[in-house]
Amino acid sequence: MAKAIVIYNTRSGNTQKVAAKIAEGLGADLASHKEIPDLKDYDFMVFGSWLIFGTISPGGKKFMKKLDSEALKGKNVALFITAGSPDQIMKKKGVKILQKDVAYNCMEEILETKGAKVIKERFAVVGAYKFLPWGSGSKYKGHPTEEEFKQSVKFGASLKKHIK
Ligand SMILES: Cc1cc2nc3c(=O)[nH]c(=O)nc-3n(C[C@H](O)[C@H](O)[C@H](O)COP(=O)(O)O)c2cc1C
Repeated sequence: MAKAIVIYNTRSGNTQKVAAKIAEGLGADLASHKEIPDLKDYDFMVFGSWLIFGTISPGGKKFMKKLDSEALKGKNVALFITAGSPDQIMKKKGVKILQKDVAYNCMEEILETKGAKVIKERFAVVGAYKFLPWGSGSKYKGHPTEEEFKQSVKFGASLKKHIK
């Protein structure tokens, strides 16, 4: 069994596809948030979610909050997201912050409460909105692109050093 795993939360498939590419580059197992295996067996984990209303999806938050602290304590974890506009600037309490950073901060807070060490290498991919009329013809159409999938494999490969 691989010593690393990529776990994702998806609605319309973008995050699942990016997660699969990261797992390919990393040589890791892949699991949906709906079927997470026993994480005690892994020494490195990558967590990914899609964004809604400027932060990670409720499903993403929920599954991370339910993770077993015993399995996460002291372990390195990495984060990735897919979003229509990850680099969009938001205003949080008067402070300008990128949408992707709002999401990363949210994930980091949850995972660090569980005792995990969130590494600083992160990865954001543009993902076309699906099932929304205003998204179907938008500039996000066609994302993730083949180039973004290649970058996802590279990101996975760059994380190999974190597997003990
Ligand atoms: C209802 C809805 C709301 C969304 N809100 C945002 C948002 O606030 N910011 C953003 O960057 N992307 C937003 N998106 C885009 C998704 O995060 C993006 O398409 C993502 O890649 C979807 O991932 P999935 O295919 O894995 O579900 C939204 C998409 C939907 C369907």
